[in-house]
Amino acid sequence: MKAIQVTRFGEPDVLNYLRVPDPLVAADQVLIEVKGASVNFADIKARQGGYHLGKKPPFIPGIDVAGIVIEVGSKVTRFGAGDRVLAFPASGSYAQKCVAAESLSFAIPDSVDFITAAACPIAAGTVTHMLTSIARIKSHERLLVHAAAGGVGTMAVEVAKALGIKIIFGSTGSPWKIERLGKKGLMAIVDYTGEDYPESIKALTDGEGVDVILNPIGGRSINRDLKCLAPFGRIVQFGMLSGEPSAVPVEVLHPTNRSITGFSFGHYRKFRPELIQATMDRLIGFLEQGEIEVTIDRCLPLSEAAQAHRCLENREAVGKIVLVDE
Ligand SMILES: NC(=O)c1ccc[n+]([C@@H]2O[C@H](COP(=O)([O-])OP(=O)(O)OC[C@H]3O[C@@H](n4cnc5c(N)ncnc54)[C@H](OP(=O)(O)O)[C@@H]3O)[C@@H](O)[C@H]2O)c1
Repeated sequence: MKAIQVTRFGEPDVLNYLRVPDPLVAADQVLIEVKGASVNFADIKARQGGYHLGKKPPFIPGIDVAGIVIEVGSKVTRFGAGDRVLAFPASGSYAQKCVAAESLSFAIPDSVDFITAAACPIAAGTVTHMLTSIARIKSHERLLVHAAAGGVGTMAVEVAKALGIKIIFGSTGSPWKIERLGKKGLMAIVDYTGEDYPESIKALTDGEGVDVILNPIGGRSINRDLKCLAPFGRIVQFGMLSGEPSAVPVEVLHPTNRSITGFSFGHYRKFRPELIQATMDRLIGFLEQGEIEVTIDRCLPLSEAAQAHRCLENREAVGKIVLVDE
């Protein structure tokens, strides 16, 4: 099969498009013909050698997929050849074929196309789990989504709306994205790189602040978030896009019952896979009912994976980038 292989850690040009052996299917796995593989920030970190769950070169990147089952292992009971699935694969999804555990594969509803399905597993799975199981958000609560124009950010806004959240604020560090975000039903969009967004959020919430903040920025943004986090509020820190170290004053948490929780969907998948079943069932329900609109920035041929990584690293994308076999 053709695939993208990282032969050494480095810049996007280490993503080589070449011919490699097909993956072998274990007894509890399905073999998938890839129809779409989404590009996640974790793929960039893996290529650079900085992903906490990453592999050593040579490896095929890609941690989510949508496609057609072409073979099943001897112990597989839920799927057969021809089934449409989205999955968290065991082998890289930047390829024409990959394998995934049956337990981490999910049927794609008939009404959902492969590109939409491919965009969802990591980005939409992460936000669904963060909002429902980690932050345990209630429909009357107010939410701030940082980097709301990103792949995860656009999904967060959609999943929050599907959960009945009415008051949603977004942030971006790229002013040109404000107009694009304006159409997504956000109450206001702030600049997460500025010192003054907490005041804006407080002014917009009658001085009360927000109840839940999804923060993939880290660093000093956590300190700023604390200035606009309401009593009983929860910050879920799930990325370190700023690259800055954090110095969080824990003494401001307990007097008002506020908390900061770290979250890694990859760590959950690896060590508590049984706990994401309910999340994925809920997400697939949203997709089936047409309750979330998935923003696809662009589709690129698999051979142009390096270009896809440059787009993400240069902050050019609004929504998800999906690789497709040409
Ligand atoms: N913990 C988990 O389970 C989990 C799962 C998925 C993703 N994540 C994390 O969530 C974050 C977003 O991932 P994503 O896949 O949504 O990525 P994405 O689509 O590329 O969105 C990232 C956005 O972050 C902003 N950004 C800030 N610093 C950046 C930088 N140095 N390089 C590129 N973009 C930067 C940009 O928004 P502006 O232009 O608005 O600044 C960009 O659009 C990443 O940190 C990723 O590691 C974590």
